[in-house]
Amino acid sequence: MTDFPDSTAGHRAGPSVPDTAADGPPPAAPPADPADLTRTGAAVGEPAPAGSKAPTAFLEVRDLKVHFPTDDGIVKSVDGLSFSLEKGRTLGIVGESGSGKSVTSLAIMGLHRASRQQRSKVDMSGEIWLDGKELVGADPDEVRRLRGREMAMIFQDPLSALHPYYTVGSQIVEAYRVHHAVDKKTARKRAVEMLDRVGIPQPDKRVDDHPHQFSGGMRQRAMIAMALVNNPELLIADEPTTALDVTVQAQILDLIRDLQKEFGSAVVIITHDLGVVAELADQLLVMYGGRCIERGPAEKVFSEPQHPYTWGLLGSMPRIDREQTDRLIPVKGSPPSLINVPSGCAFNPRCPYADVPEDDLTRTVRPELRQVDHGGTPADEGVAGGGGHFAACHMAPEERARIWTEEIAPKL
Ligand SMILES: Nc1ncnc2c1ncn2[C@@H]1O[C@H](COP(=O)(O)OP(=O)(O)O)[C@@H](O)[C@H]1O
Ligand code: SF4
Ligand SMILES: [Mg+2]
Repeated sequence: MTDFPDSTAGHRAGPSVPDTAADGPPPAAPPADPADLTRTGAAVGEPAPAGSKAPTAFLEVRDLKVHFPTDDGIVKSVDGLSFSLEKGRTLGIVGESGSGKSVTSLAIMGLHRASRQQRSKVDMSGEIWLDGKELVGADPDEVRRLRGREMAMIFQDPLSALHPYYTVGSQIVEAYRVHHAVDKKTARKRAVEMLDRVGIPQPDKRVDDHPHQFSGGMRQRAMIAMALVNNPELLIADEPTTALDVTVQAQILDLIRDLQKEFGSAVVIITHDLGVVAELADQLLVMYGGRCIERGPAEKVFSEPQHPYTWGLLGSMPRIDREQTDRLIPVKGSPPSLINVPSGCAFNPRCPYADVPEDDLTRTVRPELRQVDHGGTPADEGVAGGGGHFAACHMAPEERARIWTEEIAPKL
C-alpha cells in the first residue's frame, strides 16, 4: 500500500495542520490515552459528559474553545463557539482572515489533537457532537477513524491535500481503501467513478495523471472526489474556491450543491466572502475574533443583518453590477489580536456605532449573543440551538433596525 498516513483530504494543509504521518497507522485496538480522558471523561459513542444535554442535531458544537499557549501569550483562536447543523443542510461560516474559521474546522476534524506533539500545544474545551458521538474528549484514534469516512474536508489549496508524487487516482484509491476492505481494482473503479462524478473529462485516463497535470479547477474537483469517496456525512469546505477564477468558482459551488443533494450530507462552507455562501447556505454564522457575533437563517442574515460587522461584510461583497474595487462600507481597521482581545465588544475599535450604546457599555461589557426575534433572549451557550436569529451587540434592536434600514441598506 502506498504510504498515505490519513485519508483525510488536506492533511498537509499548511503549518497549523498536523502531519499525521508521525502517528503511523492506527492500532487495531488503540489504548485510551489518559491525557485525553481527563478533559471531559467522554469517549466516542459514550453518553454526554455529565451536566450536558444529549445532542438533538447531527452536528452540535457547544462552547468550543481552542486556545494555543505561545511565548507571547495565549492565542484564543476560538473562544466559546456554539452552533448546530442537520444532515442535508449547509452552514456558512463567514469572517475575515484570522477570525478562527480554519481552527474551528480543524477542531471538528480532530486535527489539532491528531498527534501527541500537537496535543501538548493546544488547549481545547467544549463539546463537538457528531451523530451522537462526542469528539473533543474522544480518543484521537477513534476520531481518526471517523475522518474520511464520516467527515471529510476540502481546502483552498488542493495541493495541500494531493501529494505531488502520486497519481490522483492512487490517492483516491488509498483514501477509499483506508475505510473499505476492497482490492485495488475495485477501488480504482470507484476512483474513476468519483472523478467522473465531479466532472473530470476522460476520467479513466486522467485517473493516472499526477496533480500537476490537472488545472487548478480540476485539482479542486479531484480533491472533492477524494473527500467524498467514502460518502461522508459531514463535509467541511474551507475556502474551497478562494484560489479559483470566478467562472470555475461558480462551477465548484454548483458541484458542492449537487453533491450535497445527491449524498444528503451536512456541509459547512467556510469563507471570508459572503458572496460565496449567498446562494448555498441555509444557515449563516459570522465570526469575529474567535467568537460568533451573529448567526441565523441565511435569508434573515442577508435581509435583516443585525451586527455592524455583518453590515461591513455585506458592504464589502463584490457585486456583478458594481466594480469589484468599489467597496461602499468597508470594515476599517484590522482584525483584533487574539492574545489581547479588546475588552467589551471585540469589534469596538472598528465600530462606527461604538458610542451609541450608553455608559460606554461597548468598551466594558462583552455583549452576549441574544435572540433577535424573541425579545432578546440570551442564546444558551450550553446548547447550540438551531433556527433562531442571534446577534451580539449592545445597541437596542430597534436602533439597529433603524440604522440598517435608513443608513446602510440604501447604500448596498
Ligand atoms: N497552531 C497555532 N498556534 C498559534 N496560533 C494559531 C495556530 N493556528 C492558528 N492560530 C491563530 O489562530 C487565529 C485564527 O486562525 P484561523 O482559524 O486560521 O483563521 P481564519 O479565520 O483565517 O481561518 C490566527 O490568529 C492564527 O494565527
Ligand atoms: S456592541 Fe458596540 S461596538 Fe460592538 S457592534 Fe454593537 S455598537 Fe458596535
Ligand atoms: Mg482559514
